[in-house]
Amino acid sequence: MSVRRLAPDAVQPKEFAFSKSNDNWADGQIAKYPKGREASAVIPLLWMAQEQAGGWLPQKAIEAVGRKLGMPYMRVFEIVTFYTMFNLQPVGEHFVQVCGTVPCHLKGAREIIKVCEDKIGPQSTVSSDGKLSWLEVECLGSCCNAPMVQINYDYYEDLTPENFAALLDNLRAGKPVKTGPQVDRSCSEPLGGGDTLKDKALYDGSAVGRGDWQKRIAADREAAKKAVEAAEAAKAAAAAIAAAAPAQTPAVAPAPAAVPAPVPAPAVAAKAPKSPRAASPTAPVQVASPPDTDAPKLLAKARSGKGDDLKLIWGVGPKLAKLLNTLGVWHFDQIAAWTPKELAWIDSKMEGFKGRAVRDAWVDQSQKLASGWRPDSAVGDKPKGK
Ligand code: FES
Repeated sequence: MSVRRLAPDAVQPKEFAFSKSNDNWADGQIAKYPKGREASAVIPLLWMAQEQAGGWLPQKAIEAVGRKLGMPYMRVFEIVTFYTMFNLQPVGEHFVQVCGTVPCHLKGAREIIKVCEDKIGPQSTVSSDGKLSWLEVECLGSCCNAPMVQINYDYYEDLTPENFAALLDNLRAGKPVKTGPQVDRSCSEPLGGGDTLKDKALYDGSAVGRGDWQKRIAADREAAKKAVEAAEAAKAAAAAIAAAAPAQTPAVAPAPAAVPAPVPAPAVAAKAPKSPRAASPTAPVQVASPPDTDAPKLLAKARSGKGDDLKLIWGVGPKLAKLLNTLGVWHFDQIAAWTPKELAWIDSKMEGFKGRAVRDAWVDQSQKLASGWRPDSAVGDKPKGK
């Protein structure tokens, strides 16, 4: 630790005053604090005074700061003699602060100090050419790159007597130098390259969230693609049957009475199959339209004026929800009560989405939703096995 003493009278300037721009800057710093607390700006003002004086604090500069802040000189001296960032002796153009604390000491700080003594001279003296001066200081917070020095505002790390001597020579000659580690590593990464955190999965996001989210997304996309293909195949099969069947007169049958306000089921251009098959929630997609006598109970409008959010049924988007409302389906409990026949009838009305109600198990989903359960996502919870 260096002795904290004012420089000898011989090197002290006779006066010091902030330049106009620095004085304005100082006023700005002081204005940051409440009236009566101007002294709180002492550190920044001392720092600026040191900058202006060429890297050290003459006595006149310390006193000027005291006057500016209305502080007794002694209070300002207490501060400058405590903080080693304030230099009380003149410094060279390149001011070298050598860390001598334990980690740097163990890694060779003594040899670095020896280079300073050889190339610059005694501590706290400026070299005859005015280029260099040095000072031993405490830990500069770069211990894992020990030994190290700070020169003006830059750190130079992983020093050896050889590379440090060359560094000082280059600085003295005005040549460009490399800041930071003086060996082949970046910042404070392990010497010779890292041995940990090499798993690529740590950086591609696959380690985030539940399991492998990329696989999950790929599986969802594949399932959606298959669903579209299945719907198109069902549509093509229905068209083929319609083309092969003899023309029949459309039969229109009213839907069964509903509570509180029944609406007639939409007219169905029934091209009934010759051997109608019974529908079930797990049956394959219905190709031909079931008779309207199979229609479930439908409502002219939502009970209490507000329907359930049918989009919470996985696979039901805004378009399907609107279509269901148009048919008279507004509530989860309506869907939850559908029989296989009613489900098949609804499915046959899902123009462009035929087969969706059965395939996506709307009844099962609605039974859960009608009981009050809600999915995590606004688009519903994909049924298991879908
Ligand atoms: S001990 Fe030297 S930087 Fe910390």
